[in-house]
Amino acid sequence: MDGTRSYRAMQGIDFVFRPLQPEDLPEVLEIERQGYARPWSESVFLDCFRDNYRLWAICHGDRLVGYAIVAYQFDEAHLLNLCVGRASRGQGAGRELLRYLVARSIHDGMHQVLLEVRRSNEGAAALYLSEGFEEIGVRPGYYPGVDGAEDARVMKLDLHT
Ligand SMILES: CC(C)(COP(=O)(O)OP(=O)(O)OC[C@H]1O[C@@H](n2cnc3c(N)ncnc32)[C@H](O)[C@@H]1OP(=O)(O)O)[C@@H](O)C(=O)NCCC(=O)NCCS
Repeated sequence: MDGTRSYRAMQGIDFVFRPLQPEDLPEVLEIERQGYARPWSESVFLDCFRDNYRLWAICHGDRLVGYAIVAYQFDEAHLLNLCVGRASRGQGAGRELLRYLVARSIHDGMHQVLLEVRRSNEGAAALYLSEGFEEIGVRPGYYPGVDGAEDARVMKLDLHT
């Protein structure tokens, strides 16, 4: 598949972006449980509603299909969470949301986007690499797990503003 074309263009899906609201949390928590073996709790999400955080929702019509949580630290945007509901995966929402948060980071004067991704999460890593992120290091044992800790690949995207 040609990674330079978006699923949106190919499938004609019109996604809408907006800031996430605390009222979205029931849907967010459901999507979060579908995405991770160790999902964030409601209190962790609530703690992200702060001035230096950006919480983005991607919707199809009125339906929330995914979200991204980004922390701004000086000139760095740290992508803490990117998740799409299971039923909506493979339709371009993850890529569109990533592009949106990158565009907003540029708009907000950030100079780079940083993220960690589990070594086993090859799908997410492929998405980031295809959007221009480069791997800049590994944090050994960054993610705790029932079968032992897992390394994080650290990735960076320079924003040429
Ligand atoms: C990672 C995630 C956000 C991708 O969302 P998505 O809407 O399915 O992604 P898209 O449809 O936009 O696909 C974009 C690219 O991601 C990669 N990708 C997505 N799912 C994949 C899979 N199951 N296997 C391999 N690559 C995959 C591909 O590179 C794909 O591009 P391509 O189809 O042109 O090759 C989604 O799978 C998810 O929410 N996973 C659980 C939470 C998670 O792991 N978040 C990332 C934490 S770092």
